[in-house]
Amino acid sequence: MRILAIESSCDETAAAVVDDGWRLRSNIVASQSDLHSATGGVVPEVAARQHLRAIVPVVRRALADAETSWDQVDYVAATRGPGLPGALLVGLNAARGLAYARGLPLIPADHIEGHVRAAWLREQDEGAPPLPALALVVSGGHTELLLVQEDGTFERIGATRDDAAGEAFDKVARLLGLPYPGGPPISQLARTATERKLRLPRAWLRGSDDFSFSGLKTATRQLLERDDPPARAEVAWAFEESVCDVLSLKAVRAAERLGARGLIVAGGVAANGRLRERVRERAALVGLPVHIPPPVLCTDNAAMIAATAFEHLDDAVDPASPLDILPTAARLGSRSRAVRRRSA
Ligand code: KG4
Ligand code: ZN
Repeated sequence: MRILAIESSCDETAAAVVDDGWRLRSNIVASQSDLHSATGGVVPEVAARQHLRAIVPVVRRALADAETSWDQVDYVAATRGPGLPGALLVGLNAARGLAYARGLPLIPADHIEGHVRAAWLREQDEGAPPLPALALVVSGGHTELLLVQEDGTFERIGATRDDAAGEAFDKVARLLGLPYPGGPPISQLARTATERKLRLPRAWLRGSDDFSFSGLKTATRQLLERDDPPARAEVAWAFEESVCDVLSLKAVRAAERLGARGLIVAGGVAANGRLRERVRERAALVGLPVHIPPPVLCTDNAAMIAATAFEHLDDAVDPASPLDILPTAARLGSRSRAVRRRSA
């Protein structure tokens, strides 16, 4: 079963070919980050126009790298949301046009579920993460704890009350005069810190499974605005420590409490070396298996969309039918449809 998938929800134009929901045949990602670093963030219309430029070459390369002809493709998949409306429409409509031209079914897939399903991608058949599993999704737009049930459905356990973890990295990077996206340069700067004594606040929220990063962002800004601010590297280090401490401890505790058989960490911030380390350390203390995709599969990519589509073959639609598959405007960019909130 071979799926060609497209992802265009934010600032990466991506296409991938995946077999049977796990075997990676190709994974092409054209990043727009250089384009957006000039403005310190993503301008939606600029992103959409760049997707339009990049989409055809990216799809061509994904097929070529996978040594795949159209005759060997069984389904076309694309991200349906959440994400930037104009950006989503480019990828979705490209996928629709390709599916229509080739007489293939089209599978619209959820972006957040995609980040989690990245943990199923591999090159050899080493086995999928056992379920139920707890997934910590940490990206530019989302910070969520999701319980992946044995039947593959998702239950939301907790979420950020304000900024997403990646958004906090991006905003603090700006305060430190670092480029967008802020995660990688903050990490680099943090590694050069020598004293490592500064302590920034942690929002534990009294045992709740939710997260909050706005207080940390404010504390960081106030520190930098002081007459005698600490060295920038010390601030970057203290900020990264605070975020990774809270994320790792809350995720491992919730996984234990809920009887999860494993912990998945996914989304762009899961590419962070310190977070990967902290999660592994803490999970090892309680014997909890950890699944973190390699960094290239943590940030936005289309292979994760193919892996998700494989779980939703029944949702395939005829590309010639009138499509009403984008989330409504009110939901775009916020909640994902595949996920429901855990009742109290
Ligand atoms: O998942 P993703 O590629 O896109 C969204 O769906 O949002 O996540 C992008 C976010 C950005 O906020 C970026 O700063 C953050 O992931 N990020 C990182 C790292 N690499 C990317 N944050 C911390 N450390 C990193 N190494
Ligand atoms: Zn994402």
